[in-house]
Amino acid sequence: MSAVETVPGTSTPSRKRSKWDEDEGEDEQLTYVPQPKKRAKPKSIRPAPSASENVDSSRSASPSGSQSTGSTSRQKPTHSVYVPPRTHHPPIQASRSVYSYERLNQIEEGSYGVVYRARDKQTGDIVALKKLKLEEEKNGFPITALREIYALMSCRHENVVGIREVVVGDTLTQVFVVMDFIEHDLKTLLGTMPAPFLQSEIKTLMLQLLSAVRHCHQNWILHRDLKTSNLLMNNRGTIKVADFGLARRYGDPIGVGGLTQLVVTLWYRPPEILLGATTYSTAVDLWSIGCIFAELLLKEPLFQAQGELEMLSMIFKLLGPPTKNSWPDYSSLPLGKTISLPSPQPHQFRTKFPYLTSAGLDLLMSLLTYDPEMRITAEEALEHPYFTESPVPKHPDLFGSFPSAAAGEKRRKPFNSPTAPRGANLNFLNDSNLSP
Ligand SMILES: Nc1ncnc2c1ncn2[C@@H]1O[C@H](COP(=O)(O)OP(=O)(O)O)[C@@H](O)[C@H]1O
Ligand SMILES: [Mg+2]
Repeated sequence: MSAVETVPGTSTPSRKRSKWDEDEGEDEQLTYVPQPKKRAKPKSIRPAPSASENVDSSRSASPSGSQSTGSTSRQKPTHSVYVPPRTHHPPIQASRSVYSYERLNQIEEGSYGVVYRARDKQTGDIVALKKLKLEEEKNGFPITALREIYALMSCRHENVVGIREVVVGDTLTQVFVVMDFIEHDLKTLLGTMPAPFLQSEIKTLMLQLLSAVRHCHQNWILHRDLKTSNLLMNNRGTIKVADFGLARRYGDPIGVGGLTQLVVTLWYRPPEILLGATTYSTAVDLWSIGCIFAELLLKEPLFQAQGELEMLSMIFKLLGPPTKNSWPDYSSLPLGKTISLPSPQPHQFRTKFPYLTSAGLDLLMSLLTYDPEMRITAEEALEHPYFTESPVPKHPDLFGSFPSAAAGEKRRKPFNSPTAPRGANLNFLNDSNLSP
């Protein structure tokens, strides 16, 4: 009956907030001890083991009671031979409550959700809780939220942020992903650190990023939103890829409309998506990695465009416009014939990156390559000579540590990059806005 109240700029209507995350007063949030009535029956809520335990238990699970009963008296199996036995199904367990965590501070309120730092009341571990965006959902649990959880769980890796569990708030529309807490994100760090990363450090960060992305691709996951604010870094020189909110499986048959073009934050978006491709693949992530590599070198984002057209023209300027040689399929892309290309000109990588070695420049150009078929893969990039030439990658233990803005210090926003294209009201490139 009551009007739906929404807080401008937040993704979640305020009435959806649970008691756990509703109070913004610093003092209150630390002392508030909720007594959730609904969670009074301890038997119905079993602490969920960590997902790694889940995996193990699903593999080695002993037969359940229902399977063993009657095994002596019956000859025929109780289920179809085409259906795997019950023990092969993943264990289904009730999620724990968000009240298992003590809220410490809000790390980030992005356009799509909120991330909190919190303490596990049982173990004392400091964790990060990301509230998933579950808006006025009429068709059950949203596929995007499922994809985020699925992708995080299937891409476990040293350089991917660790998912611990999924917990629920007061209602089933309040779902939080619990992750390891990581001190920094690279975007904030690049804006606040006193000196840029050294070449030896950039190599280590790039190797970690590439090995995480190779792992995701090997597990059939496209990230589709790689950018510095989605790369977390701890105080021990280790990068963790985060924010799988736009991730999805690839390799499955694609629906009639193809894959969505509403992916990858503008500044990191590859030319094939800008030109309307609906059958892109792993190469999209490698383009974004090229932009990140450039950003680490420049200490600011490479392409700071306002819209898709400006983005394309910035790309054309740095790479030189695409040719039949550099991108044979260019003209078959949906917008390939609509856009008038500038007159041929050489690339400007050397002018833009005067201090990079030729091996470094070669890696950068192999990542920022027009044709997705010719773009370097994560696997190949890891073997690139740039990583073996001097200076060699620095050991993560030798990285300096920085004060963590996410752990409570006032953070400074260095620059405002566009958000990932998850909204519905984005301006698409179309014939009408392409005319001069
Ligand atoms: N596990 C974490 N530890 C510490 N900070 C995190 C963690 N996950 C996210 N953050 C912070 O929250 C921000 C937003 O999280 P993200 O998953 O990227 O959500 P969104 O979908 O809103 O972009 C990140 O840029 C980072 O600063
Ligand atoms: Mg993000």
